Amino acid sequence: MRITRAVVRPPADTFAAGITSSRLGPPNLATALAQHDAYCRALERLGLSLLRLPPDPDFPDSTFVEDAAVVTAGGAILARPGAASRAGEVAALREVLREWFPEPAEIAAPGTLDGGDVCEAGRHFFLGISDRTNPEGAAQLAEWLARHRFGSSVIDIRTMPGLLHLKTGLSWLGDRRLLAAGELAEHDALRGWEVVRVPEGEGYAANCVRVNDTLLVARDFPATSALLGELGYDLVPLDVSEYRKMDGGLSCLSVRW
Ligand code: GLY
Repeated sequence: MRITRAVVRPPADTFAAGITSSRLGPPNLATALAQHDAYCRALERLGLSLLRLPPDPDFPDSTFVEDAAVVTAGGAILARPGAASRAGEVAALREVLREWFPEPAEIAAPGTLDGGDVCEAGRHFFLGISDRTNPEGAAQLAEWLARHRFGSSVIDIRTMPGLLHLKTGLSWLGDRRLLAAGELAEHDALRGWEVVRVPEGEGYAANCVRVNDTLLVARDFPATSALLGELGYDLVPLDVSEYRKMDGGLSCLSVRW
């Protein structure tokens, strides 16, 4: 589907209190806000209308809006984040999506699901089982997808080091092509897909965002950008260093449809 809209939410002044395992030090809020602004401007330049939620200091991770809802060509599903401190983020997504999706599906207990574990690849979805998304949550989404005539396959990333979410290491590049890092690139679920491997040492660059004919990519990963450029993609490099410090990436910063 052609993407025309995105929900975004800047980080609040509590951003540094969010969950992280990165050991890259605390984020600088002013820099994070400037990076968020550049991200939003890039989406607008690509023709998207933005729905801007206000920063919410009660939820330090709430700038990572992608984890709270999944929007597909068949409708929206409210997620059920696996981290207790993030559960309350869903209400704002329910509200902002209401105009387009008045009756979204919802992941129900005991299922948990973070949108970062949902990698759309056209009519197929890869669903990550992670420390945030449990098998029950993934099964609920798979069932909803099947009812809407989408395919899905599950990838358990719990033993794969360095992956918070599936999309930390996997992105759809369009058609039958995926970008994948590390052992994910070899996973059986990707058989039959063309897998572009992220060059050694640039694993963070695996999280990119396809917006129609353009790819938003993390800045400062030259080997990955060169590879994607050679494949003919139009790239928009964006600096997301402050979000990386909080285990986030480009895709986490918006819900797109
Ligand atoms: N800081 C992003 C997350 O842990 O969900």
